[in-house]
Amino acid sequence: MTTALNGLNFQFTEEHLAVQQAARDFAQTELLSGVIERDEKEFFPEELVRKMGEMGFLGMMVSPEYGGGGMDTVSYVLAMEELSKIDASASVMVSVNNSLVCYGLEAFGTEEQKQKYLVPLASGQHIGAFALSEPEAGSDATSQHTTAEDMGDYYLLNGTKNWITNGGRANTYLVIAQTHPEKGHRGINCLIVERGMEGFQIGKKENKLGIRGSDTHSLMFTDVKVPKENRIGSDGFGFKFAMSTLNGGRIGIAAQALGIASGAYELALQYSKERKTFGKPIAEHQAIQFKLAEMATQIDAARFLCLRAALDKDNHQDYVKSAAMAKLFASQVAMDTTIEAVQIHGGYGFVKEFHVERLMRDAKITQIYEGTSEIQKIVIARELLK
Ligand code: CAA
Repeated sequence: MTTALNGLNFQFTEEHLAVQQAARDFAQTELLSGVIERDEKEFFPEELVRKMGEMGFLGMMVSPEYGGGGMDTVSYVLAMEELSKIDASASVMVSVNNSLVCYGLEAFGTEEQKQKYLVPLASGQHIGAFALSEPEAGSDATSQHTTAEDMGDYYLLNGTKNWITNGGRANTYLVIAQTHPEKGHRGINCLIVERGMEGFQIGKKENKLGIRGSDTHSLMFTDVKVPKENRIGSDGFGFKFAMSTLNGGRIGIAAQALGIASGAYELALQYSKERKTFGKPIAEHQAIQFKLAEMATQIDAARFLCLRAALDKDNHQDYVKSAAMAKLFASQVAMDTTIEAVQIHGGYGFVKEFHVERLMRDAKITQIYEGTSEIQKIVIARELLK
């Protein structure tokens, strides 16, 4: 048995099952109605954000000391899967807020930063965004063109960020920027930027293929004065900070991909029992049975990888490789499964009322954000070759 498999225990506790049920119920009662309209019109109402906060989803892994749910990563995976079955635009907000913003602040922030920024984020009163990507720095995250010039007691922030989830609605932005270009990735910092700081402008909203209810914007910084106390960690820690938070973020996105896949599978299974061709339900045709068997097997394998990564993190084991493997595999399963789910639905799968076409469009982003599939392979290979 390899180290990564030590401590594997898929016995869920009562708390795990309660969280899973709460997320399932919330998705059915609050997210399902209106999900098609939100996708079509590209919006996500404040009222629903507030309800997700009240349910505790937005800060579920933050310790109770800072107003969070104090839950483990397994609970997070279970909740992410259930929410993503119905609405991946909602679940990406949960994932970014928990994994990238709250985790980053709790793990690396000062006590003052935690009190000021983490507490309102953990309750969902505030929403966070993580601003790493740039027009010319996506996969190659060290090539930051955004600059944070050291001016003594503040940083002068200049530059543009692209494709920022929660970009238009966040209150707190973790912005990665270059301070000492001669030091490469060791010259990068992460600054906490507040919405409304002078010189900070929210740019255009993206018109996307999928997760259209999610709010994705570019951000522009022009001579924004960010106080020194808003830097996370020591001078030059920003790149390490980004990489470390993304490791956990990848577990969230893997669980999102798992949810998109299992949501599409459940719809296809149900439909195949109801739809008749050649005198019998299509589920009785072997062509459909082969598809369902393949989908269910892939989904179970993706679920095991997601839970292994979550357990590695909960057991304080190194989870860089297991998180990247979970994201790589689950996002491929999401893509494959949703395409097959559309195929099983035939012509109905190609129209908006049947959910599977949206799930197919939503699946694609899981192979792109928080590191493309190619990046996950690089991360995995580096760990294997260490
Ligand atoms: N965990 C912790 N530290 C890591 C790390 C990881 N996974 N990967 C690298 N590091 C550290 C290294 O140890 C190294 O530290 P030292 O200076 O102490 O040696 C430092 O970071 C630099 O590492 P590399 O030289 O390996 O860096 P690199 O330039 O070769 O890049 C990469 C590595 C894996 C390709 C990285 O650039 C990467 O992950 N890119 C993808 C970025 C990404 O995921 N972007 C997504 C944007 S955010 C988003 O999508 C949010 C959203 O909207 C939902």
